[in-house]
Amino acid sequence: MRMLITGGAGFVGSAFARNAVTGHEVWVLDALTYAGNLANLESLQDSPRFRFFRCDIRDAALVERVLREFSPEVIVNFAAESHVDRSLNDATPFVGTNVLGTQSLLDAVRRAAPGIRFVQISTDEVYGSTTSERPASEDSPLCPSSPYAASKAAADLLALAAHRTFGLDVRITRCTNNYGPYQFPEKVVPLFITNLMETKAVPLYGDGLHTRDWIHCDDHSRGVLAVIERGRPGRIYNLGAQSPLTNLELTKRILHLVGGDEKLVRHVSDRPGHDRAYYLDCSRARLELGWAAGIPLKDGLRNTVEWYRQNRSWWEDIKKGTYLEYYSRQYGNSGNHA
Ligand code: NAD
Ligand code: DAU
Repeated sequence: MRMLITGGAGFVGSAFARNAVTGHEVWVLDALTYAGNLANLESLQDSPRFRFFRCDIRDAALVERVLREFSPEVIVNFAAESHVDRSLNDATPFVGTNVLGTQSLLDAVRRAAPGIRFVQISTDEVYGSTTSERPASEDSPLCPSSPYAASKAAADLLALAAHRTFGLDVRITRCTNNYGPYQFPEKVVPLFITNLMETKAVPLYGDGLHTRDWIHCDDHSRGVLAVIERGRPGRIYNLGAQSPLTNLELTKRILHLVGGDEKLVRHVSDRPGHDRAYYLDCSRARLELGWAAGIPLKDGLRNTVEWYRQNRSWWEDIKKGTYLEYYSRQYGNSGNHA
């Protein structure tokens, strides 16, 4: 299959590209924002099945040209502003890429390639906080807390509208928290791993008892491939690992794997609007797609820590750049983050 992957130079998009290229022709289109990195696609550079274009998804004319030249059978949209904390500082880029960008892509597809499958990569955060007794199903109401989550919910609604009104073959995935190699070290897993490797403090928000369901990015990628191959138009699919964990427990596991000192854990003020927990009902993906996550957190986290140990220059370069600038702006010189 020919697949156009937008946002494919980021963390999850590049994992998807690495998984997809083994059996498909893959073109990646990415604006290379602070979170996009061609190094994430290094292993694909020599593949005759891979091509990269630097392009903003809001540049509809260029997107249309790529669609006409490549004539893909599927477009998978990973492109987004993805970090909740950044959306609390300034929501505008989130509306720009996540909402307007998604609409621009839908319009380009409608004009240049109306018959292709459009997979919109969404998130469990659109449901807001949920409980183990009442996990969110695909029919649960949208109740996003952060500007990031609200922008993703808006994109989902626009994508569904394009399906209902114009008959586009839109499919949506809503996945839980991903971890794995090449994740930008502003997100909690790589932030804590790399800070501990540098003997720096790790900032745990609030009481640390917020619960997240951690899934390896390769499991997520296989879920998206299953949606492409066996999913249905107009359908939403929840994807999760079903192995929830509090942030405190996650921190202890990372401390153990890195060999860090417990004194480096700092309880800092909570994230405003911090959802207490995300629980998803993933039975639709299991029953309709035959998909379930397969990588146990214990193994995935150990391999991830090992990856950050082996690829120090990747994250050290990032931390020396925009990352430090951003955190010193947000938190001053508290020493929490860097
Ligand atoms: P990321 O921030 O690592 O990557 C985002 C990518 O999108 C970057 O390569 C960036 O350059 C690109 N991008 C941003 N704005 C763009 C624009 N206007 N035009 C073209 N490219 C642009 O994010 P991620 O963690 O890999 O997340 C990817 C997608 O998966 C997002 O849509 C996110 O909402 C979703 N998601 C992520 C997780 C997670 O835990 N990481 C979980 C569920 C869903
Ligand atoms: O749930 C899916 C979402 O997971 C995706 O849609 C987002 O794109 C992705 O960024 C991620 O969002 P989170 O806000 O959950 O990820 P983050 O790594 O920022 O935070 C995970 C948890 O850890 C959350 O409860 C907040 C907490 N945390 C985070 C940071 C950065 C801390 O305690 N300290 C920190 O420094």
